[in-house]
Amino acid sequence: MTAYLAFTKMVFTLRWGIMATGGIANSFASDLLLEPSARGTEDVQHIIAAVASSSSESKALEFAQKLGVETSAKAYGSYEQLVRDEAVDIIYIATPQSRHYTDVLLALGAGKHVLCEKPFTINAAQATHLTEVAKSKGLFLMEAAWTRFFPHTRQILKTLHEEKQIGRIRGGALLDLGYYPLLWADLILSDHPDNGKAAPKVTAAVSLTPKGVDEFTGITLTYEKLGAVAYLTTSLSAKTQTPYSVHIQGDKGTLMISGTPPNPRGYTLQVDGQDPIEQTATRAGNNLIWQADACARAIRDGQRGCPESPLENTLAIVKIMDEVRRQGKFVFPSPLEDTQR
Ligand SMILES: NC(=O)c1ccc[n+]([C@@H]2O[C@H](COP(=O)([O-])OP(=O)(O)OC[C@H]3O[C@@H](n4cnc5c(N)ncnc54)[C@H](OP(=O)(O)O)[C@@H]3O)[C@@H](O)[C@H]2O)c1
Repeated sequence: MTAYLAFTKMVFTLRWGIMATGGIANSFASDLLLEPSARGTEDVQHIIAAVASSSSESKALEFAQKLGVETSAKAYGSYEQLVRDEAVDIIYIATPQSRHYTDVLLALGAGKHVLCEKPFTINAAQATHLTEVAKSKGLFLMEAAWTRFFPHTRQILKTLHEEKQIGRIRGGALLDLGYYPLLWADLILSDHPDNGKAAPKVTAAVSLTPKGVDEFTGITLTYEKLGAVAYLTTSLSAKTQTPYSVHIQGDKGTLMISGTPPNPRGYTLQVDGQDPIEQTATRAGNNLIWQADACARAIRDGQRGCPESPLENTLAIVKIMDEVRRQGKFVFPSPLEDTQR
């Protein structure tokens, strides 16, 4: 009995190396320092073993000081030093998207597991290559699609996919900045059990500024197996003004997500003929920690990804982005699109 009790109390510790010192790196790293039991987590914990800045060691040290980990975490003035640190299990990559491909390659090349910020890569060719490298090296690799891991996101998927409370899903309207409408379409429609992960048909219109920036994008995704259509709009300049930013329409009701698609405030379930049910989102810190707990559990269990955020889904989204850019005649400067095969 004593041995059993001792075993059940074992907590797995994941040792993180933080690559970059910008806004999201700070939010994620401070979540790693949250007390796990405050969010009901008993089996895993996190430490920040090292941080790195591409600019200077002093910038890395300042970042560590702001977090209060300057005595326990190494501070490096280059990403190359960070990935070589033997006290680090996993690198969290929080650099701009244009660098993700080379930064992930650097970390995988040094034998480190990787959690890489969204959007994962510039194009599908890069995402495919990274997936192959991680697989060949037996390393964990995942896009930090944080929204997929929230307890309320999992509850929404259960309501729609398992309990089918709004019946057959006919489609939805998803509004926000950049990548998040695609993420919700992926969660709700691509991952619908009746869809079988079939890729949707993509129709896109992109409005470019005189300098070639993709200011407004409208995307229609048609899921033929489901008989459902998703209307997505993303804008760099217009903020979502409606209380609900994701509307999902079924033949027996609707589910509407309030707040922003990246980090919803909650949702309203309206089954036809019944009173609406309001749910408020569960939160912990900046809400970036749920994905870190999932990484720790996967790595502890010898898995190379998390079921909530498979690389297959990441790749499917990057492929849709490629098609949207192709139809919208939006291209990145050529070196950014390259791969190092
Ligand atoms: N999950 C989310 O909610 C969320 C939210 C915001 C952003 N993101 C994603 O996270 C990534 C970083 O976003 P952020 O808002 O943290 O950006 P940011 O504040 O601009 O920070 C980016 C950091 O990357 C490093 N860096 C390396 N090369 C750089 C270069 N050529 N130009 C600029 N910075 C460079 C810099 O740190 P050093 O100088 O220390 O190396 C910089 O502080 C993006 O992919 C973004 O889409 C995710």
